[in-house]
Amino acid sequence: MKLLVTGGAGYIGSVVAAQLVEAGHQVVVLDDLSTGHADAVPAGAVFVRGDLRSDARRLLATGVDAVLHFAAKSLVGESAAEPGRYWADNLGGTLALLEAMRAEGTRGIVFSSTAAAYGEPGQVPVTETAPPRPTSPYGASKVAADTALAEYARMHRMGAVSLRYFNVAGAHQAAAGGWAGERHANETHLIPNVLAVALTGQGQVAIFGDDYPTPDGTCIRDYIHVGDLARAHLLALRACVPGEHRIYNLGSGAGFSNRTVLDTCREVTGREIPARTAPRRPGDPAVLVASSDRIRADLGWVPELGLPAMVADAWSFAQARLGQSTAGSQSHGR
Ligand code: UFG
Repeated sequence: MKLLVTGGAGYIGSVVAAQLVEAGHQVVVLDDLSTGHADAVPAGAVFVRGDLRSDARRLLATGVDAVLHFAAKSLVGESAAEPGRYWADNLGGTLALLEAMRAEGTRGIVFSSTAAAYGEPGQVPVTETAPPRPTSPYGASKVAADTALAEYARMHRMGAVSLRYFNVAGAHQAAAGGWAGERHANETHLIPNVLAVALTGQGQVAIFGDDYPTPDGTCIRDYIHVGDLARAHLLALRACVPGEHRIYNLGSGAGFSNRTVLDTCREVTGREIPARTAPRRPGDPAVLVASSDRIRADLGWVPELGLPAMVADAWSFAQARLGQSTAGSQSHGR
């Protein structure tokens, strides 16, 4: 198939693009590089630097069969500070894409959604039948996009699948050996922050809150390896049934506390990794664990890699990056 991957220069989009190329698909990546990196686009994919609003339609017109839509802003805290940007990019961008798809007759879309759609869930594990009650503009913009997807599917015979990710971690090693992983300018996620301390030996990890109603007082999250997550996108392409909008959670069904994550990072890296308790981060739910029974039943998706593998791969990626930057600074020095 010929596939358009929006946001394919970002963390998750680039790993999905790599798996699509490896599976033999023709892949076109559209990314404005506002947060992505051109060198994250996998070899074998065509890269177009551009914007959904101005460029999606002409790319779809080249015979694209379906779209995997990742291009979005994705930070909960930032969305509270800059709601307008989140609504414009996440909802506005999706609407522009859907209009372009309608105009060009493109029928399938797999949409990158989030556990933030549920906000503070009433029950865990969270199933797709839980009411969407987002507690941030980020989560709200993704829920609003789902409303549009359902409507375009119904009215225009599109097949749409929204994948609600829980906590994505790990990195992907391409067949050629290079690593693709998480490298955000302002990193907010737990595992990369812990591994940065492990790598540099500088500073301390801040654990946000130790007075949550959980066994060790720290928040509990459901981690999923980016490779397992990406595989679900390839399956979801086959679940784009005209007229239907499906929603699937993607998690492992197991919860790990922030302290357990820290301990796993210490074990995997063999480094001490100093940590301190810091105040709670506003808006963090105490426990987020997914039920992924629906996608298991419908598409046979089963996550294969556990937390130690995620940390090990993220660690390999972090070390490879350090190697590159050291090599870069050495060559600058010559
Ligand atoms: N945390 C720390 N220290 C850090 C970073 C994070 O203690 O330096 C804690 C957080 O407070 C939270 C846990 O580690 O308790 C996980 O935090 P992350 O930022 O790694 O991930 P979140 O659970 O906040 O975010 C994830 C997704 C978002 C999604 C959100 C839904 O990354 O896209 O779940 O709540 F919106």
